[in-house]
Amino acid sequence: MEEQAIRAEVRRRTYGEKDLAALHVFAGGFINFGYWRDIPLDGELTVDQRIAAQQALYDTVLDTLHVTADDRVLEVGCGQGVGARKVVGRGPRVVCGVDLVPEQVERARRNTPDVEFRVGAADDLPFGDDTFERVLSVEAAQHFEDLAGFARECARVLVPGGRLAVTTFFAAHGAGPELSDLLDSFARGLDLPHTVEGFLDDLRAAGFTEVRAESIGAHVWAGLDRWLAQGPHRDHWDRGWLPAAERGLVDYHLVTARQPAGSEG
Ligand SMILES: C[S@@+](CC[C@H](N)C(=O)[O-])C[C@H]1O[C@@H](n2cnc3c(N)ncnc32)[C@H](O)[C@@H]1O
Repeated sequence: MEEQAIRAEVRRRTYGEKDLAALHVFAGGFINFGYWRDIPLDGELTVDQRIAAQQALYDTVLDTLHVTADDRVLEVGCGQGVGARKVVGRGPRVVCGVDLVPEQVERARRNTPDVEFRVGAADDLPFGDDTFERVLSVEAAQHFEDLAGFARECARVLVPGGRLAVTTFFAAHGAGPELSDLLDSFARGLDLPHTVEGFLDDLRAAGFTEVRAESIGAHVWAGLDRWLAQGPHRDHWDRGWLPAAERGLVDYHLVTARQPAGSEG
């Protein structure tokens, strides 16, 4: 419990007073590695391309959710609320965001005033049962201490037939120690070495059906590494991600699942 409390403090500071999004490695208020499939990687990358890659990660997730004008959509781990604009762009009737860190929620409210943002934890969502038709989460679940609790909370707040899409990086089974050697964020406990197989089991145990994972690392790691290679050294952001991915220690996944429809549930 002591170690968990230390990790929680690392996360609170990283996203609160330290404001990770302000680092050159990110841009535009986003804090994700990006989806680079449609961005040429053979020349110098621009800040606009870095932002476009992070927006494209949101689009990749949103494409699986088939958002309609009748939907209420929740983003878990919404960061600074700029990704929520992408959700708004899909035209649902309601968009909400939740993040653990109060400073992030304040920034999100300033950045995207037409979305309701709340402070809350992924495993204790501050919303009632059956409140949303869609839930998404972008590069946040690597921080969640209780992925099974997150799965249960998503099941609870989703209506019957509701859809879930989660994207982030997951560790290979047993790769935690090697990842800690290679990557500072694992060594500090900011990121946790969850496996995607474990998360899929959590989703099934929470009652989800159509539980699937797709590796999208081919469109993440090379672009991220290319961006890090040309970044200013002041960030001290390590380039261990691509080597870790090439060694099979970590991969980026898009996980989708569905709540059974009422008659099935
Ligand atoms: C890497 S950032 C991603 C932000 C945003 N989705 C994006 O792509 O720009 C991860 C976010 O998850 C939040 N977070 C960490 N642990 C959380 C938890 N247990 N519940 C909710 N949010 C959490 C952090 O405060 C941070 O804003």
